Formats: sequence, structure tokens, C-alpha cells
Amino acid sequence: MCGIIGYIGPRNTIKVLIEGLKRLEYRGYDSAGIAVMHKGEIKRVRVKGKICDLENLINEQLILGDYGIGHTRWATHGEPSENNAHPHIDCKGEIIVVHNGIIENYSFLKNTLIKDGHIFVSETDTEVIPHLIEHYYEGNLLDAVKKTVKLLKGDFTFIAISKNELDQFIGVKNGPPLILGINDKEKIISSDLAPILNFTKDVYHLENGEICYFSPDKIEFYDFEGNRIKKEKTVVNWSPHMIEKRGFKHFMLKEIFEQPHALRETIIGKTSLDEGKIDFDVEPSFFKNIENVHFIACGTSFHAGLVGKYFFEEICEVPSEVDYASEFRYRNFLVEKNSLFVFISQSGETADTLASLREVKRKGGRTLGIINVPESAIARESDATLYTQAGPEIGVASTKAFTTQLGILFLLALFLAKQRGRIKTSKLKKYISELHIIPHKMEKFLNKSKDIEELANRYYTYQNFLYLGRWVNYPISLEGALKLKEISYIHAEGYPAGEMKHGPIALIDEQTPTVAIAMRDRVYSKILNNISEVWTRGGKVIAVIDEDNNEIVKEVTNVIRIPKTEEILTPFLTTIPLQLFAYYIALRRGTDVDQPRNLAKSVTVE
Ligand code: M6R
Repeated sequence: MCGIIGYIGPRNTIKVLIEGLKRLEYRGYDSAGIAVMHKGEIKRVRVKGKICDLENLINEQLILGDYGIGHTRWATHGEPSENNAHPHIDCKGEIIVVHNGIIENYSFLKNTLIKDGHIFVSETDTEVIPHLIEHYYEGNLLDAVKKTVKLLKGDFTFIAISKNELDQFIGVKNGPPLILGINDKEKIISSDLAPILNFTKDVYHLENGEICYFSPDKIEFYDFEGNRIKKEKTVVNWSPHMIEKRGFKHFMLKEIFEQPHALRETIIGKTSLDEGKIDFDVEPSFFKNIENVHFIACGTSFHAGLVGKYFFEEICEVPSEVDYASEFRYRNFLVEKNSLFVFISQSGETADTLASLREVKRKGGRTLGIINVPESAIARESDATLYTQAGPEIGVASTKAFTTQLGILFLLALFLAKQRGRIKTSKLKKYISELHIIPHKMEKFLNKSKDIEELANRYYTYQNFLYLGRWVNYPISLEGALKLKEISYIHAEGYPAGEMKHGPIALIDEQTPTVAIAMRDRVYSKILNNISEVWTRGGKVIAVIDEDNNEIVKEVTNVIRIPKTEEILTPFLTTIPLQLFAYYIALRRGTDVDQPRNLAKSVTVE
């Protein structure tokens, strides 16, 4: 959470920093700030609020900058306020720092520094960094940073500049990501690729425990012991247009509509319909002798894991469990020789998921990442990684990452089924062929998105919703409820429909609409009963049904018709109306769809 950036080069520094911060804003957006160096003097501007507020303030003050750093914040220590906003400085106002992460021992460090005469002015943990650097500074910023990192505990990724050493930048990574982009004339360092893509595709990904030191004409890398290290440049294959809204009102809407393309990109190159073959960029032997699978993830990625469990049981008959990463990491879980631990994450940065991965590795488990962001921490630390090809997902509410995760999970289930001899080639080909048609069916449904907008217009004033599903669509009811609550701030509960009678049915009244997923699958007759129970108690029901279903309409208030597919594949399609429903309700309620309150896209702190 939080985004940091630094720039040096011939372009207008202020503009580069502001544009970069706008691209990083999805990481955290309660306050922001920049510090620029101009003619040897530092100018710092900070605000409580969004990047546009910072931009307005800067425009009023007519600030100039030769180079500089910036920050967008998601508060952890100290409320969102101008005073707590980054960049933070030392006592003399010579050392300036932007930081992402949490310094766990900041209280001890702060007290020690105060006893030493340092004056602190904010409530943040970050402020100890410039003061520690100041404490160690003897004319060489890099040396002082090398000493400073040895004292810090926790997650700390930061950029430091100093008035005493013009044109020099130091970047430190220990936790959240830090990427340095370079071209012939300029250097830009940032928390993620979004601000870098307009400048270059040549990047260095810093690893934990690394420091980079750069100026216009040099780049050096060090480890925390102070030793010089060599790093390889990589070329990224994302392009700048992927992070534009391209005519859509919000990133979330654009990303919902990108799902057919994202799913195609994810599955096509990995499947051969003619041969009934699935090819991953992972040695097939990696998947040998798997007897059980553990899916570990948070939020929407956790829901993908739940769907994965149904895929695995159905297709390859591998027992599987799903855990919230925040719970899993503190369990005394067992690592068996033939277990596979699968970490699902869009960002590849989520703190709990990453910590769980490290814990499994510590215990010697076999680990696989299903990740969207290339080169992210979970991608690099897993024994093997399968990439979803969703492209950058900017909206805080996850949409295309989810359906592409389902794509990978389904392919993995098919792959294991084949490897274990649990599926006939004809059946495998049938599944692959149907999966290939899903993007087309998504498009067909998305062409009718106006219908969902109209439905949202009828329901946007309600304060409580229930989402019901069974079997493979039970996780989709959870996902639908999560989408609604996170962007519209309406209370919504997802439930397995069969659990209604064990308590939640007491909530049913005219003011609590139910969204029920009722596809004609093996549990169809069961969910019909559940819908009846809601209906006879005066509850309004919106039913998600097969496009040719005409029998259900008598006992529901509204229907959403979905193109038909294999029952096990229905989650790819049933999830889309629920995303759109949440989106249009939020739009009607006037919330900040892409940056909902209190949230951040990448949850890099526990
Ligand atoms: O990047 P990850 O997939 O690890 O993120 C996990 C959750 O933080 C994320 O899915 C979150 O729940 C979304 N805001 C849901 O839309």
C-alpha cells in the first residue's frame, strides 16, 4: 500500500511526478506529497487528500523542480493529514525520504533518536528513516543509508535524496516492490511499472535486501552488507496503452469489458485443441505425484481458490483445501511430501499471501504461484509460477484478474487430470473447446450490459443484499457480495443457499433483496427450493439463470439471462453480471468506484 516515485531527466519533473503518482494512486490515496530539488534548494508540498488536490496546490505555488520524489499514502501509523504525509525530512531539512511499508521497531528507534536530540514532527514510523540517515551522515549519503538499513526491522522500501549530494538517488527495497526504469536520458524509480511504461521498457527489479544508487550517469547496486552486486536488466512486455481508461468512465468498467480478451490471452497459448494438450511454462515433472492441493489467497483471489477446489474435485479428483492467507500463515499446517501449495494473487505482493508462501517454503513445501503481475514477489519466490495474462488491473475491485485466475485453475485441473490418467482425451478436448468459447459468450453477455444498468437503477437504494449460490456458484455468491460492498458500501452477504434455513433466512423481508445464482446444474432443483423460501417470505429475488430458462420467472422479481455452458464452467459467466450490478449501483450512488474509501489495491501490510 502506498506508492513511491523518483525522477531525474530532461522532462518537467513536477509533471512526471504528478502523472506518476496518479498512476500509483490506486495503491493508496488518503494523502500525497512531493519534494523537488531546484537550484540546490528543496521544496516540499504535501496534502491530505488525493493527487488532484496535490496538483492544484502545486499549480497555485508555481513550483519548479530539477528532480524529485513523490508519495501517495495509505495510512498505517498516524492519521491521514498533511503533517503525516510523505516526504519526510531530517532535523536540518537536508535528507528527504518517501517510504512504503511498516517499520516495526520504529518506536524504539524514535525514542533513542529523541534522546539523542532529534526532533520528530509527525506520528509516522517513516520519520525515523531520515533521522537515522542524518545520525549516520558524514558526507556520504550512500554510506549513511547502508548503516541505516541495518537498524530497521520490518518492511521498508524507500527512496532518499539529499540537498548535500545533488542529482543522487538512493533506493532501498525490503518488502514492497521497487523498480528502476532507465533510458539514455532519464531514470525513473517507482513502486510499480505503471509510471515507468511511458518512459521505457528497460527495468531493474530490486530484490529484498538491495540498495540502488543512481545519478544521471551511473547506476550501482549493493546488498545490505554494503557489497557491490551485479543485476540484470529485464524488458517488460506491458505497454502504456494498457494503463489508460480508453474511453471508459472507470478502470473497473474497462476491466470488466476486457475479460474476454484477458481470458483468451490467458488460455489460448497454453492449450492445443487438436491434440487435447495443455502446456505450461513449467516442467511437467513439477506436478508429479500431487496428492492434495492447498489454495491460499485473500479477497477475490481467495474466491478463485474456492472455485478451484470445485474444479479440482470434479476434474482431476485431487482433494483440495482453501485458506485465507491471513489465517493460514498462523496455523500449524502440515507439509506433506505430495502436497502442492498454490498461492493465488493478482498483485503478487499481498503481505499475508507472501508471508504464507515463505512459511510453506520454510517448512519445505512445494509452491506454485498463480500471479498476474510479472516479476512480483510471490511470482519470484514461488518454486513455479503460472501467469494470468490479464494485463494491469488498476481498479481496486478485482474483476479480470478473477476470471483469468479461474482460467488457469481450470487448465491446471485438466492438466493434472491428464497427468493422472483421470480424463479421457475426448472429454479433455470437449472441456478445452468449451473453455475457448467462453470469451465469446462473455462478449455476448457484455453486449447487453445496459440491462444490468437498468436493474441497478431499480435496486441502488437498498441497504442490504443477500447473495445465494450452491456448489461451484457458491463462491460466486461470495464474490458478488464482496464486489457490491467494496465499491457501493452496501451491506451484502454471500451464502451457500442451503445454509439459509440455519439462520440467514431471518433477514428476509421486502427491504433485503436476494441475488440467487440458479443455473440448470446438478443443484438447480435445490436452489429453486431456496428461492421459493425467500419468495414466500416476501423477499425480492434477482435470479441469474440460463438464457433459455422460462420456468423460474414466476417466483422471482427479475432475471438475468446467461449464455449456456457446461455446468462446471458457469462461474466464468455468472460472475460478470454481478460485477456489472455492483458497478452500476456504485455509479448511481456516486461512490468513488476505482478508489473506494479505506481500501488500496495492493495490501502490502498485514
Ligand atoms: O493482489 P491480490 O489478488 O493478492 O489481492 C487480494 C485482495 O486484496 C483483493 O482481491 C481484494 O479483495 C480486491 N479488492 C477485491 O475486489
